[in-house]
Amino acid sequence: MENVLIVENLTIAFGQLLAVNSLSIEVREGEILGIIGPNGSGKTTLLNGISGLYKPKSGSVIFKDIDITDFSPSRRCRLGIGRTYQVPRTFEKMTVYENVLVGGVYGASLSEKKARYKVYEILELTGLLHKKDLFAGSLALLDRKRLEVARALATNPQLLLLDEVAAGLTEAEVNEVLRIVKYIKESGVTIIWIEHILRTMMEAADRVLCIASGKKLICGNPKEVLAAEEVQEVYLGVEEG
Ligand SMILES: Nc1ncnc2c1ncn2[C@@H]1O[C@H](COP(=O)(O)OP(=O)(O)O)[C@@H](O)[C@H]1O
Ligand SMILES: [Mg+2]
Repeated sequence: MENVLIVENLTIAFGQLLAVNSLSIEVREGEILGIIGPNGSGKTTLLNGISGLYKPKSGSVIFKDIDITDFSPSRRCRLGIGRTYQVPRTFEKMTVYENVLVGGVYGASLSEKKARYKVYEILELTGLLHKKDLFAGSLALLDRKRLEVARALATNPQLLLLDEVAAGLTEAEVNEVLRIVKYIKESGVTIIWIEHILRTMMEAADRVLCIASGKKLICGNPKEVLAAEEVQEVYLGVEEG
């Protein structure tokens, strides 16, 4: 399998704090790479380093053999890296439909006509079609998460970065998110999925990376990683619930 993304010795600093500390990962085409780790371990910062929101202190990010380390977030998006935000960044006073359309027109640079067609497809897939005319601000949590994923999909990513899209949901709602993510994977999109809910990693991830204090602790098949002693120590010991 080919690597879609290679992160090499990435370090992202906030003042003295090395939130991501010389981290290296390889993401294979078509896989779901799950990322777990305690709160504050640098998961979101790593994602921000990949999507271009934060500039690294050192290291590099290679996407489809292109060194994108100095590329802006929008350039990375146009190249095929889509993302969701841990705290949804939907436009509250726009409808669900309009929110997704913005992703299609600006992110994927589609004509408005093509984007409209794509938006319907994505709304259907994410289970939002019958809510397309509601204001985003009026949605309950599951639908907000759905909309976050829908907006990211509208940018037509080859690599999709998901940041805790199942967090805070009920069992049944988590199953719905799992269904959507698996479907996206089946359509050929490579996925990096940060999630605290270990069941989602067991059920969906091909490999799991556990990070602690900005460093790679272990990376491998989900069963092995979740059972590893060092993971139990740093992660399960502090996990809530
Ligand atoms: N914009 C920022 N400015 C300063 N510190 C930050 C910023 N973003 C994250 N951090 C710090 O970096 C560390 C890693 O944070 P984060 O990547 O959000 O962790 P995680 O997503 O694993 O919970 C934490 O100590 C956090 O407080
Ligand atoms: Mg986070």
